[in-house]
Amino acid sequence: MSSVLHDEIALDLGDRSYSVYVGGGLAANASSMVPSDVGKIAVVTQKNVGILPPLTVPHQIFYIEDGEQAKSLATIAELCSGFATMGMNRRDLVLAIGGGVVSDTAGFAAASFHRGMRYGIIATTLLAQVDAAIGGKTGVNIPEGKNLVGAFWQPSFVLCDLTALESLPPRELLCGQGEMAKYAFLGAEGLDKMPLAAQVSACVRIKAKYVQADEREGDLRALLNYGHTLAHALEAVGFGDPRVDLKHGEAVAIGLIFAALLARRLGRIDQDRVDYHYRVVESYGLPTRLPLAIDPERLIDSMYKDKKSFGTLTFVLDSGSGVEVVRDIDVVLVKEVLLELNR
Ligand SMILES: NC(=O)c1ccc[n+]([C@@H]2O[C@H](COP(=O)([O-])OP(=O)(O)OC[C@H]3O[C@@H](n4cnc5c(N)ncnc54)[C@H](O)[C@@H]3O)[C@@H](O)[C@H]2O)c1
Repeated sequence: MSSVLHDEIALDLGDRSYSVYVGGGLAANASSMVPSDVGKIAVVTQKNVGILPPLTVPHQIFYIEDGEQAKSLATIAELCSGFATMGMNRRDLVLAIGGGVVSDTAGFAAASFHRGMRYGIIATTLLAQVDAAIGGKTGVNIPEGKNLVGAFWQPSFVLCDLTALESLPPRELLCGQGEMAKYAFLGAEGLDKMPLAAQVSACVRIKAKYVQADEREGDLRALLNYGHTLAHALEAVGFGDPRVDLKHGEAVAIGLIFAALLARRLGRIDQDRVDYHYRVVESYGLPTRLPLAIDPERLIDSMYKDKKSFGTLTFVLDSGSGVEVVRDIDVVLVKEVLLELNR
């Protein structure tokens, strides 16, 4: 199959610089991205992904399990043992092929093995293409929380292969749209009217801009977490509860609506802007209400533990001049807004 490059977005990060390529059929040409001094490649993927490009250097394939439970220290240990057994050295390459679970996990294994191996990503879900694969945040979950153990470790290249999205289950596509909806409030206007390639490019450009300005996530890059404080709490509280059944992008969608309602209660935005949030989220068919089984008190406990909160209730909130980090929000108000979500 021939490949069509739609866009190349460069991330200028000094000696950690790399490009994100957006286009159709890019996976097939992955070999051309592999640096010439690479002797071996450890491919990390999942059975469902079903994309294995031809590679011209010796390689071994490591399949990891599906879902958040695969993003674990046990998987990192297994991968690193496998890398050692195949005799990987620091010059070799880890190639992640999959969605955010694969890129977060393979990226952290690459960051850890030999104290840091090169890695490349073929992003095969919409969510990974517009968010997870870009910016070098790698990591895994532990029972105490999601993404609690990890490293900032930039890939050498990212291929966003739009052809891969053709086999993606519809609900996974929807989840990617949850992250895309976030970008509508971070400067990407009119996303819904663009062709898919242009939508992905626009989101990557915004993410690249924030990562370049604030690689290790001070307050600026934290703005990319718009909608995520509640989303992470929903995922933590709902994890393993079949009555909740929310995926990351769906949780982000609810988090965006919550953030809009909270910002309005704080006088930061008006009702028109809240309505715009509803329009964007609903245009993708994403949820706007909390699952009924969720206990708001548990959500609040979880939001206090958010790693960017430093023990207070902290949110990224919209305003007339864009989104900002806002700390020390009154718990009573947060409870009221959680209830308002489902009215
Ligand atoms: N590092 C970051 O900056 C960052 C940002 C956002 C999200 N994340 C993480 O990303 C993860 C979610 O990623 P996701 O939404 O991509 O989910 P995922 O990686 O679990 O993929 C979803 C499902 O789609 C399958 N799949 C992948 N590509 C496919 C394809 N082309 N065809 C058919 N099936 C395919 C996967 O095997 C999986 O079953 C979460 O763990 C989240 O924490 C990380």
